[in-house]
Amino acid sequence: SHARATAAGDDGPTVVAHRGASAYAPENTLAAVDKAAELGIRWVENDVQRTRDGELVVLHDDNLRRTTDAEEVFPDRSPWKVKDFTAAEIARLDAGSWFGSAYAGARVPTLEQYVDRVERNHQKLLLELKSPESYPGIEQQTLKVLANEGWLDRRHVAGRLVVQSFSADSIRTVHELKPAVKTGYLGTPAVSDLPEYAEFADQINPSHTSLTMSYVSAVHAFTGPHGRPMEVFAWTVDTAAAARLVAGHGVDGIITNKPDVVRDAVGED
Ligand code: G3P
Ligand code: CA
Repeated sequence: SHARATAAGDDGPTVVAHRGASAYAPENTLAAVDKAAELGIRWVENDVQRTRDGELVVLHDDNLRRTTDAEEVFPDRSPWKVKDFTAAEIARLDAGSWFGSAYAGARVPTLEQYVDRVERNHQKLLLELKSPESYPGIEQQTLKVLANEGWLDRRHVAGRLVVQSFSADSIRTVHELKPAVKTGYLGTPAVSDLPEYAEFADQINPSHTSLTMSYVSAVHAFTGPHGRPMEVFAWTVDTAAAARLVAGHGVDGIITNKPDVVRDAVGED
């Protein structure tokens, strides 16, 4: 492997399939989870939001236009915000055809359906709370779904779940509600602010574009809330060259739309 040893002490960075294996199957669908599994990728990333009637669903954008046929099915519901549609309405949408006809009929999964599939595939989940400021209470609600699915059981929680967000407040809330859950902050805080983040974040997950070796080392020097060095998972890295670069910086994980490419370049066996 081209990778340096990481804080976790393994061979190379953990490879995370971004929105599932989203270069090869429609993002954030069960098909993208399965595609990652077929490629032998253990970790998948997703984006969690909430419907008008309070169901948690998996979708990246705050509106349904790009990745579903909502405009066609509900022509008078501009601007097609996720939070303005019921779960039953969203369940009618086709979330696969935009990507390719082979995926026609793919659905926007509920969080529960998504977690079930990840579990069935023996995979692990990097769950992003997307725009949590739009969804008051989504932290508690997400933890409740995970608890119902058995994902917060003591023997499971540490091994297969990280909750991340661009909102520090949101992951601080997750940490306070359920300290056993590992958390990640999406962004690049100033090094002088890392002591504060180390109180509630196990990971600092920056865009790969501005990442340096000295920043990764600075993060590793802090101990996270679970008594281990804070980790760095970089996104979104889709070429072998970029993967080698960030692996050389010492990152612990790489979040990628092309998990096979990254795994073959630098990933753990
Ligand atoms: O997991 C990191 C990455 O997903 C953050 O950006 O916009 O793809 O959710 P975004
Ligand atoms: Ca995301």
